[in-house]
Amino acid sequence: MSFQLKQLHTHFFGEITGLDLRQPLDEETVQAVTSAIDKNGVLVFRDQQIGDDEQLRFSNYFGQTQRSITVHREQQARRLGQEELSDISNLDEHGFRMDRTNPRRLYQLTTMLWHTDSSFRNPVGKYTFLCAKRLPAEGGNTEFADMCSAWDALPAERQRALRDLQVCHSLAYSRGLIEGSPPLDESERRNLPPSVHPLVRVHPGSKRPALYLASHAESVVGMPYEEGRQLLDELMAYATRPEFVYAHVWRPGDLVMWDNRSTMHRAMPFDEDRCVRELRRTTVSESAVELQPA
Ligand SMILES: [Fe+2]
Repeated sequence: MSFQLKQLHTHFFGEITGLDLRQPLDEETVQAVTSAIDKNGVLVFRDQQIGDDEQLRFSNYFGQTQRSITVHREQQARRLGQEELSDISNLDEHGFRMDRTNPRRLYQLTTMLWHTDSSFRNPVGKYTFLCAKRLPAEGGNTEFADMCSAWDALPAERQRALRDLQVCHSLAYSRGLIEGSPPLDESERRNLPPSVHPLVRVHPGSKRPALYLASHAESVVGMPYEEGRQLLDELMAYATRPEFVYAHVWRPGDLVMWDNRSTMHRAMPFDEDRCVRELRRTTVSESAVELQPA
């Protein structure tokens, strides 16, 4: 199966047309998509009309799908049946638009902070797949930052100083950054403990080093807490400078796939009091053999 690929940003972000994800993919096409994402970090597949089962099948070509973290929220009903699907929407469990005080909505505000998916888990998220279902008339873009280019643009001396650092990522920490957001409940604390990952990793496909950061990144191992916080804040601001960022404006039929090991992303605001924004997310885990510290 062939497709067309066009890069939309100077450094990264590819657009794929001419591929129908309702059809099963042969091995050659899966390899071609893998090469495309190794090079581009993010891919948008245009004009897809796929259901949840087809999204799961497509995701599973690239790794083991993770269960959504919402399955660990024992007090909260899920709208979607399959545990591998995350409901990225402003809809409640009955499909009605949520108001701003709904705790479910507060959980989702962390997606508006720059992050990589599942960096607080071990194994971490490899690829995420986000499929547009309903879109607001304006706003609600997803912004992406290219962490390979950010690394390349650092002076060699700075790269040497950062190369061997390890960082602790914590969902409790990032959730605490959102005012009014509920703390982790007992089940979340038990099932989603913090995890430590290298600050710099060589991407297994492209062989390019990348900064591995997220709003989940709380502390630097072996460094006084405040000193680590200063370093992480500085690196987050640096890596999300405009020259490393592409804003994806969603179109109906878009499925966006990104590599969490070479990019960060965040959701942008829209008129939540009037509009519905509904996307479906799946994430596959990185396997142990793919972990390559710099
Ligand atoms: Fe995300």
